[in-house]
Amino acid sequence: MNTALPRRWEHAVVTGGAGFVGSHLCTALLDAGTAVTCVDDFSTGRPENITALLERPGFTLVQANVSDPFTVDRPPDLVLHFASPASPADYLRLPLHTMEAGSLGTRNALALAHGAGARFLLASTSEVYGDPQQHPQNERYWGNVNPVGPRSVYDEAKRFGEALTTAQADAHGTDTGIVRLFNTYGPRMRGYDGRRRTDVHPPGPGRRVPHRHR
Ligand SMILES: NC(=O)c1ccc[n+]([C@@H]2O[C@H](COP(=O)([O-])OP(=O)(O)OC[C@H]3O[C@@H](n4cnc5c(N)ncnc54)[C@H](O)[C@@H]3O)[C@@H](O)[C@H]2O)c1
Repeated sequence: MNTALPRRWEHAVVTGGAGFVGSHLCTALLDAGTAVTCVDDFSTGRPENITALLERPGFTLVQANVSDPFTVDRPPDLVLHFASPASPADYLRLPLHTMEAGSLGTRNALALAHGAGARFLLASTSEVYGDPQQHPQNERYWGNVNPVGPRSVYDEAKRFGEALTTAQADAHGTDTGIVRLFNTYGPRMRGYDGRRRTDVHPPGPGRRVPHRHR
């Protein structure tokens, strides 16, 4: 995997840095010589994901819920907002927490970036396309989301986060970006979280192929 960064960052704040994707991001940033502050409440992340990082120079853990105002010990030049329940099992168990991470959490992470003059990146999702009527989806497609459907807490939280990020850039000139991740798999993903591609194998007797989630 090529983990080369496009430029050298001095200090990155990674919200959700103890999660599956976030912990790999923290590692890649540290490997590139960037100091990292991981902000995580461990609502879905695991302490063991970052145990090795705690020993590394330049790594700081702030245990906090990003939906509440939070501070870090020095200004960042990069803020990666990845804090959010992401698997169906988690966001259905934590519906309000999920909506707050996408709304209040995004607002707080944007405020941190803006105040520091930092680059901000929102981790969004292909779920913003809902049940898409276009395949494959490109970035000009607006999606097909049921605002009161079973996955709406996640889909709409991410859509609101994207709208807030766009408005912040338009209104205040904050340097922002949005990345819509599709299914991502790899080490540190939990054994059962509702997203594993168990459907790559043909179903055995009595087994059903699970619905695919993004
Ligand atoms: N993995 C994927 O396939 C995928 C696909 C699309 C989007 N994403 C996005 O990427 C990000 C990371 O996903 P992941 O798969 O690593 O999930 P994950 O559950 O492993 O990691 C999320 C992390 O955020 C933390 N967190 C959640 N709410 C928080 C809050 N309010 N305050 C502080 N920390 C909080 C959790 O404790 C966890 O460590 C999420 O924003 C998710 O929506 C992931």
